[in-house]
Amino acid sequence: MVIKSAVVPVAGYGTRLLPATKSQPKEMLPVARKPIVQYVVEELVSNGIQQILFVTGRSKASIENHFDHDPELFRALQEANKQDMLKEVDFEDLKANFFYTRQPHQKGLGDAVLHGENFAGEEPFLVALGDSILGLNAVSRAVSRMVEVFDSKRASCVIAVEEVPAQETRHYGIVQPEEAADGVFRIVNLVEKPLPGEAPSNLAIAGRYIFSPVIFDMIRRVEPDRRGEIQLTNAIQLMCDEGRRVMAVKLSPEEKRYDIGNFPSYFESFVEFALADPEYGEGFRKVLERLVAKSAVTA
Ligand code: UTP
Repeated sequence: MVIKSAVVPVAGYGTRLLPATKSQPKEMLPVARKPIVQYVVEELVSNGIQQILFVTGRSKASIENHFDHDPELFRALQEANKQDMLKEVDFEDLKANFFYTRQPHQKGLGDAVLHGENFAGEEPFLVALGDSILGLNAVSRAVSRMVEVFDSKRASCVIAVEEVPAQETRHYGIVQPEEAADGVFRIVNLVEKPLPGEAPSNLAIAGRYIFSPVIFDMIRRVEPDRRGEIQLTNAIQLMCDEGRRVMAVKLSPEEKRYDIGNFPSYFESFVEFALADPEYGEGFRKVLERLVAKSAVTA
């Protein structure tokens, strides 16, 4: 089986990153050289995705512009013979078709995914969060493994999961494996942000999902939470409750998820990607060491 379509929700307010996100999408914040959402798209295309629907909202137009061809910039760089810089925009030629739809009210991730119903049609599809990068420089085969599992296990849903420290489970959606969890396993339950003692595992949902179209009916059955949001996790829980096969694929340590939803994680991701930069990484490491030594002296 091949899964060619992905829904990428990018309509959230990004309130945890204010003021940076007041008038620009958090998904466009740079991590080292590229905006977050470019890493996401490159990862999806390298895993066989050919059409991408962005679920956008107000003040998200720069995402659409970013993936559009810019003839004036192209001409200016060509006339100035700036071949190096032309290479920096060759992602415009990525072999993917882009589609856009708007989520008029930010009513949660479940509601955002529901906006992909016409796009997905009768086919299974991927959901990739627009603020989460998998792997340093988005090098990850996780989505391909998920497609494989979706097919071979005849699943209704496959979720990428990653190990998180036991004391941090309250920040994540945590899954309950049916049996001992190795690389691929069945999920029987999901718990949103459990306290460490109450978490059924330390395996967190990690921003990539494959769904059969049955997910749309499940989302419609979910009641809004007290903030008025439709949680995607609750729709997946309904799938588990009905005995549908919900599988997990564990990310390898190299496929670490960079969740850019809050400042500590954004800072860390930026530094890690900048340190890995082939041109500037080494110089940046020296600067960082100097800054760290200086702040240790003044502290
Ligand atoms: P988050 O919950 O991390 O995004 O959703 P948020 O709502 O923007 O964050 P805060 O809490 O205000 O800081 C994960 C992904 O789902 C999208 C977001 O854009 C993000 O890429 N999302 C979230 C939507 O598209 N619509 C929504 O209603 C909520």
